[in-house]
Amino acid sequence: MSPARRGRDRLADKVAVVIGGGQTPGETIGNGRATAVLFAREGARVVVVDRRLAAAEETVAQIREEGGTASAWEADATREADCAALFAGCAEQHGRIDILHNNVGIGGGDAGPAHVDLDAWDLILHVNLKSVIVPCKHVLPFLRRQRSGAIVNISSIAAVCATPIVAYKASKAGINAYTQSLAIGNAKFGIRANVIMPGLMNTPMAIEGIATALGVERQELIAKRDAQVPLGGKMGTAWDVAHAALFLASDEARFITGVALAVDGGQSARIG
Ligand SMILES: NC(=O)c1ccc[n+]([C@@H]2O[C@H](COP(=O)([O-])OP(=O)(O)OC[C@H]3O[C@@H](n4cnc5c(N)ncnc54)[C@H](O)[C@@H]3O)[C@@H](O)[C@H]2O)c1
Repeated sequence: MSPARRGRDRLADKVAVVIGGGQTPGETIGNGRATAVLFAREGARVVVVDRRLAAAEETVAQIREEGGTASAWEADATREADCAALFAGCAEQHGRIDILHNNVGIGGGDAGPAHVDLDAWDLILHVNLKSVIVPCKHVLPFLRRQRSGAIVNISSIAAVCATPIVAYKASKAGINAYTQSLAIGNAKFGIRANVIMPGLMNTPMAIEGIATALGVERQELIAKRDAQVPLGGKMGTAWDVAHAALFLASDEARFITGVALAVDGGQSARIG
């Protein structure tokens, strides 16, 4: 192990699969990439999975530059055959799977109740729900055999707050609901499952993605989002999501399952 890798080995000897570990191009780091990098800094062997192999490979290059251990894997998380091959490959290569982190999520083309486009609805529900339930279905046989494992699913505070993007909200509320059943149904196997609900984050998916979709200036969008956050009047970063994921994935959270943790600077606790 290179001395360049920082961290306290909170995930030493663990094998972590981060799905959606590439990222949308942009000026900042995305949630999936930051999580993969942080897991590696803490000693995990990380399998970075993305539908776009080049994006996963960029994350792997960053991890290796820091002295961490990672490999890239191309898969569409919504496809059963891809997920079956992914976990069989991980088990063969590493002998075990300790952590599954499901980061994939989309929201483009969404709208409010009076304007919702049903093609966009179908796509958002399909990608956001299946990219969680399909990997979970296919990792569970391995985790149950091991009688251990930690799953972290990424939803959003949209799941619990009113927002005019109804397909995204419904899909993320579905992830919260699904994760409760996942957690309770698998507790007897020593498997934990939790949800992180990010709030407004300064990530390329949000900033470059929304600025382009709405045709607004990047800085204008950042200022508008910052102003909505109670804690410090600033959005969070992907590292805030990554640190929450690190805790939930690590043995420090050994007694925590079925929880939905907001990482949002207090936004979901606000009234008025
Ligand atoms: N940024 C925010 O403000 C914010 C707020 C709340 C929740 N979130 C959630 O965070 C997650 C996104 O975080 P990010 O910053 O890493 O986004 P990102 O877009 O940078 O990265 C997501 C990655 O997932 C990949 N992907 C998309 N569909 C896939 C599929 N079917 N199979 C495999 N890979 C696929 C993409 O290629 C991309 O590399 C989403 O679940 C999103 O809903 C973000």
